[in-house]
Parts: sequence; structure tokens; C-alpha cells
Amino acid sequence: MITFEAARIIAEFPLGVIASITPDGRPAASPKGTFLVLDDMTLAYGDIRSPGTRHNLMKTAMAEVVFVDPFRRKGVRITGSTEIVEIRSARFNQFHPRWIEAWGDLAKRITALVMIHVDGVKMLSTPPYDDGATEADMIELYKAKYAEIYP
Ligand SMILES: Cc1cc2nc3c(=O)[nH]c(=O)nc-3n(C[C@H](O)[C@H](O)[C@H](O)COP(=O)(O)O)c2cc1C
Repeated sequence: MITFEAARIIAEFPLGVIASITPDGRPAASPKGTFLVLDDMTLAYGDIRSPGTRHNLMKTAMAEVVFVDPFRRKGVRITGSTEIVEIRSARFNQFHPRWIEAWGDLAKRITALVMIHVDGVKMLSTPPYDDGATEADMIELYKAKYAEIYP
């Protein structure tokens, strides 16, 4: 079940890296920035130009996806079975307006919604939390680090 805390990370940082399996059994990781949580058992991204992942999921309909809040240094790993909802289908037309609302014109390039029907959710955190670091410590540290890169 996608908890409130997991949904918050995905809503604030919707860039997930999805792992699929190639037809010859190799791992394949691919970033997708258009993830939305549809309900507490389902999330999905918009396939704009990701033929490799789509091909993999057509053969093996399973995926794992990781989201990270790069400031709080917490994340979530989600696993599940996948479903490709093709453009012009009734379900595509039902859900696609949510992508238009979130991403505007970019969402017009979506040719399928790739849904993940969730069967596992694991919260992740960076090791400094084991040593007593707080969320405020992490946010302060990484705001400063990213400000050095992009002042
Ligand atoms: C930050 C970031 C976000 C991206 N978001 C998406 C996305 O939401 N949908 C999509 O189809 N491609 C997205 N891409 C592009 C794909 O990752 C890229 O086209 C990749 O080559 C697809 O590889 P694949 O076919 O193996 O999945 C994104 C890339 C980056 C770097």
C-alpha cells in the first residue's frame, strides 16, 4: 500500500527510476519524471519516448521503481506488476487529464500510461540517520550542496 509518506515523496519528487527486465534477462533502469499516484495501490508514468522499458514490460510485466527526496535523503522503493494503458483506450482517456493538469503540453506527447499495481513498498533512508542525523540536518546540508552547484 502506498502510504501517505510514500505518496508525499512521489508528489514532491516525481522523478522515479524504474527497473525492468530485458528479454534476455538483464536489468534495465530508466528515469521517468511523470509519475503520479492514482490510488493507494496504483501509480503510473507517462510513456513519451521510452520504447526500451515498454518493450521489456510487454515481455515481463513486473517493475521496481525508486523515488528519492534528495534534500531529506529519504526515499521509497515500490514493486509491482505493470499494465500498459494505450492511447485512445477508455482508461487512457479517463486518466490522461491528470497528466495534462500536472505537465501541460508535455503530456500531449504521452502515448501510453504505464501503471504499476503495487505489491511492495519499502521506505528508504540514508545511513547518517542511523548516527542521529535529523531531517533538518539533511535538508540544511543538501540545500547548501545544491546551491554550490546551481547558485
Ligand atoms: C529527468 C528525466 C525524466 C524523464 N521522464 C520521462 C518520462 O516521464 N517519460 C518518458 O517516456 N521518458 C522520460 N525520460 C526520457 C527517457 O528516460 C529516455 O528517453 C530513455 O532513453 C528511455 O529509455 P528506455 O526506452 O530504455 O526506457 C526522462 C529522462 C530524464 C533524464
